[in-house]
Amino acid sequence: MAVVLLVILCFTTLLCVRKWSKLTQYYRTFNLLERFSGPPAYLLIGTVPYMLFTDFYKWANAMCQQYGDPVRFWRFGHPMIFISSYKYAVQLLTKSNFNGKLQDLDMIYRHPGGKGLSTMQADIHSQKRKMLAPAFSRAIVEGSVEAFSEETKILLNTLQKFAVTGDAFNMVDYMMTCLFHMVARSDFGDTFMENRNDNTARQHMQALHTIAETLSKRILGPNLLLRKDFIFFLTKDGKATRKAGNTLNSFALQAVEKRRLYRKTVTGEHNICYLDILLDLMDSGLMNEDDVISELNNFMGGAYDTTALTICWTLFLLALNPQHQEKVYEELQHIFKSLPSSSSSEYTLTANDTKEMKYLELCLKESLRLFPPAPIFPRSTVTDMKLDDGRIIPGKVDVLIFANLIHRDPEYFPNPEKFDPERHLEPIPAFMPFSMGVRNCIGQVYGMYQSKVVLAYLIREFVWETTESWESVEIAYQGLLYPKNGLHFKIKRRC
Ligand code: HEM
Repeated sequence: MAVVLLVILCFTTLLCVRKWSKLTQYYRTFNLLERFSGPPAYLLIGTVPYMLFTDFYKWANAMCQQYGDPVRFWRFGHPMIFISSYKYAVQLLTKSNFNGKLQDLDMIYRHPGGKGLSTMQADIHSQKRKMLAPAFSRAIVEGSVEAFSEETKILLNTLQKFAVTGDAFNMVDYMMTCLFHMVARSDFGDTFMENRNDNTARQHMQALHTIAETLSKRILGPNLLLRKDFIFFLTKDGKATRKAGNTLNSFALQAVEKRRLYRKTVTGEHNICYLDILLDLMDSGLMNEDDVISELNNFMGGAYDTTALTICWTLFLLALNPQHQEKVYEELQHIFKSLPSSSSSEYTLTANDTKEMKYLELCLKESLRLFPPAPIFPRSTVTDMKLDDGRIIPGKVDVLIFANLIHRDPEYFPNPEKFDPERHLEPIPAFMPFSMGVRNCIGQVYGMYQSKVVLAYLIREFVWETTESWESVEIAYQGLLYPKNGLHFKIKRRC
C-alpha cells in the first residue's frame, strides 16, 4: 500500500512540476508579448473575436496597417506575431537561428510525401539543404535553358489562335500548364516527357490547389478542431486533401520508377536531372523513398505555380505600361538578331542570351515587388529572438512576415504604387521576393532563368494588352498570390 501511495505521490509531483514549468513559461511568453501592440486579448480566448475574417489576406494587411509593427495575436493560448517592416524583418531573417517553419506546417510534414525542404523544422533543415544545394546550382539550371525554350515554343504555338481571332483569354491556365511541363522535364528528365499529357498537368495542379486551399483554412481559420487529423480527415475537405495527396505521391512515384528503369538501361553519358541527384542520395543511404517523393512534391509545388504567377503578373504590368513593354521588345530584337519577329520560335535562347535581358530583368523585379507570388513568410522562433529595440519574441512563437507590405514602404520604394522598373538599377535591401537568410528560396536562380526565357518569347512574338485594370483585379491568397478570376489578355502578332 505504501509503495502504491509513494508511486502516486511521485507521479502527482512530477505532473505538478511539469504543469508548473509550462505555466511559468506561458506567463513569461505572455509578459514578453504584451510589449507589442495588437487587438485586446481576453482571458482564454485571446484575440479570437478580432480574427473572425472571411478573407485572411485582406484582414491581415488591415491589421498590420491598424496596429503598426510588430502586431501580436493570441488564438486561445497560441501566440502569433505579424511583421510588416523591413527594420524588423531583416533583424529576424538574417539570424541563422531563425530557421523554424510555422508549427502548423507539421500538418503537411507528418504525412507521406510531405517531408520536403520547405515544411521541414529547424533541427534537420540545414543538413538537408546542404545536401540538396548542388541540384540548384547555376550550372545545373543553365543546362535546362534549352528545355525552357523548347517548352515555351509549344506555348507560342497554342496561343497563335488568339492572335488570329482577337479573343480575350485567361493566361494563368496556359502558363501553369506550360510551367508544369517545363518543371517536370528538368525535374524528372526528358524521358518522362514522352507521355506529355495536359490532363496529368491539370490533375496535378488541381491536387496542389486543393492542398493549398484546405491547408490555408486549417492553419488560418478559427476552427481549432480541424487541426486534429482524426477530425479533419472525416470532413469533406479532409477527404479531398487525402485524395489530392495520393495524386501527388503517385505522380512522383511513377517518375521515380520510370527514371530507375531508364538509369538501368541507359549506357554512356546522359543528361542529369534533379531526380538523378535524389536517386544518388537514396543509393548512398542518405535518403529513403518517402524523402525522395517528398522532395519531388516540394520541388514541383515550389517551382511551377510561383514562376507561372511571376510571368503572368509581369505580363499584366507590361500590358498596363506599353512604353515599358516596347523597351523590352527593343532589347530582345538585339538578342534574336535578324530573325523576323513572327518567327521567334526558330531561335533557341541560350543561358548567355538571358544575361543580355537587362531591361526585362528590371521589369521582372518590379513585378516581383508589386505582386510577390509568395508574399508571406511563415516562420516559428526556435529560441528567444531579441530585436534591436530590446523587445524579445520568445521561442516557439509563430511569426508571419509580409513582404508585400515591406515592398510598399515609401522609405525604400518612393511612390510605391508606381510601376518603375528603373528603381532596381541599384540593389534595394528591402526587396525580398525570395525571402532572406537560411530559409530563402533555393530555386530563385531557376525561377529567374525560366521567367526570362518565357517572357522573352512571349513579348518578341506578340503585343500584349489586358482587359483588366489594376483596380478590377482581386487577390485570392492561398499561400500564393493568385488573381481571383485569372488574368485576361488580348494579343496581336508583331509584324
Ligand atoms: C519566381 C519564382 C519564385 C518565387 C517568387 C519564390 C519564392 C520563395 C520564397 C519567398 C520562399 C521562402 C519562404 C519563406 O521564407 O518561408 C521560397 C522557398 C522555397 N522555394 Fe521558391 N520561389 C520561386 C521559385 C522557385 C523554384 C523555381 C523552385 C524550385 C526549383 C523553388 C523552390 C523553393 C524551395 C524548395 C523553398 C524552400 C527553401 C527552404 O525552406 O530551405 N522556388 N520560395
